[in-house]
Amino acid sequence: MKRYTLALAMLTGLMFLTTNSTLASEAEISIRANQGKYKINKEIYGQFAEHLGTCIYGGLWVGKDSPIPNINGYRTDVVEALQRLRVPVLRWPGGCFADDYHWMDGIGPQSERPSMRNNNWGGTVEDNSFGTHEFLNLCELLGCEPYISGNVGSGTVREMAQWVEYMTGTTDTPMGRLRQQNGREKPWHVKYFGIGNEAWGCGGNMTPEYYSNEFRRYNTYLRDQPGNRLYRIASGASDYDYNWTRVLMRAIGRRMDALSVHYYTIKNWGHKGKATAFSDEEYYLTVEKCLDVENVVRRHCQIMDETDPDKRIALFVDEWGTWWDEEPGTVPGHLYQQNSVRDAIVAALMLNVYHKYVERVRMANIAQMVNVLQAMILTDQKDKGHMVLTPTYHVFEMYRDFQEAIHLPLDIQCDSLSTVEGKKVPSISASAARKDDGTMVLSLVNTNLAEKCDLNIQLNATAKEVSGRILTGDHITDFNDFSHTDVVKPQEFKDAKLKKDAMHLTLPPKSIVVLHVK
Ligand code: AHR
Repeated sequence: MKRYTLALAMLTGLMFLTTNSTLASEAEISIRANQGKYKINKEIYGQFAEHLGTCIYGGLWVGKDSPIPNINGYRTDVVEALQRLRVPVLRWPGGCFADDYHWMDGIGPQSERPSMRNNNWGGTVEDNSFGTHEFLNLCELLGCEPYISGNVGSGTVREMAQWVEYMTGTTDTPMGRLRQQNGREKPWHVKYFGIGNEAWGCGGNMTPEYYSNEFRRYNTYLRDQPGNRLYRIASGASDYDYNWTRVLMRAIGRRMDALSVHYYTIKNWGHKGKATAFSDEEYYLTVEKCLDVENVVRRHCQIMDETDPDKRIALFVDEWGTWWDEEPGTVPGHLYQQNSVRDAIVAALMLNVYHKYVERVRMANIAQMVNVLQAMILTDQKDKGHMVLTPTYHVFEMYRDFQEAIHLPLDIQCDSLSTVEGKKVPSISASAARKDDGTMVLSLVNTNLAEKCDLNIQLNATAKEVSGRILTGDHITDFNDFSHTDVVKPQEFKDAKLKKDAMHLTLPPKSIVVLHVK
């Protein structure tokens, strides 16, 4: 097997200049088809929509009177595209916004709702026309579970307790009656409730010890309403803050159902870099940073194992994704960024990692759904009504059959590359799962920008037919915009050849392939 390192490639002038290279690496994958034990929770494919920039206003919501086609105020094109993804869960209203949000400002006649300044995100004026009803009705339209992030930072215990009663209480409770007066008699079903967000930062700048006490106090008054058991999520660590997890697990482990962690793929907060103009070196650094999520997840899981060996408490990666410089000409603080083939590779790699840890990692929410950070969808910032699906959208669509399938462990032997910082990046990432109907779903990622990969796969199961799709681009920097909506989109992949219980295929450079093997 040839072994090129990025450093060596630079020295010899190979430097991955072309994607039509005839260079080829080889890799072997062996799927342990009989060892599947754990289901890939569909919530791993969760989404996050914050009152930030144009995620809600202009992205999901345009209001009933908009000239842009809409279903009761929700953009028709966006809703239909999201329905195709089978979104399982949607987290709202933040993020940092959640700890500034007072839900009572967002109910009742829209024209009478008070405005507020969105202090976290560009100082934009928020008119509260999208509130609890609008969010929960959107979840019903998408067929997903709502995940509410409650305000611990600047709210009160009473306010949070009343919110739970408003959403899920029967009409013989004071808040249930108020909901009825506002047009909704039947309580909504709300399963996931986050008690604060980033309590170590924008959610109140607390220590883990202080937050643990706050969690106890708020949690006490969040009363389950008839037929609605809340799944209580503690505000977790930022990536490498293992102490936060350790303290919370010991102090409030008994009281929570899940603990969150946030992991953004950023190499340098001071110089995030451009979304669509970056060097090959930057690309490999991004891949390395993205794959470091596995070390982070593994370490948090180990700490949770110390006090919860039976894995009752879930780990939710309830914010993750790439974070680049904002696009020139957009409103500062709105975190509007383009999305290239690199983002698609990051999404596929991260999802492959989450699949491996499904025993503990039972939810992940990409940040964010529309127009913010690593979005599924971009809508025209000038309100012309255009919409474009990003490469990341296509990964979520190609991967959707992993939802609720049984994860199959596998072993990979492949080349690795070295980044300019000397860290290793494997050229191949893969994940396999078995659906209820027996179909094996297999995702394969070739991170190498220059070399295709000849791949031999031991399926260790009989197979008669295989079909699949590939996502790639002529250049790693390729992206879709409003005038070129289909530069990066999935194509049929016909190159996989079955031979008894094995399969051979060639993965092009910088590509993602998802196969269905029957
Ligand atoms: O997703 C953007 C922001 O990132 C969220 O509001 C916050 O929770 C995180 O720091």
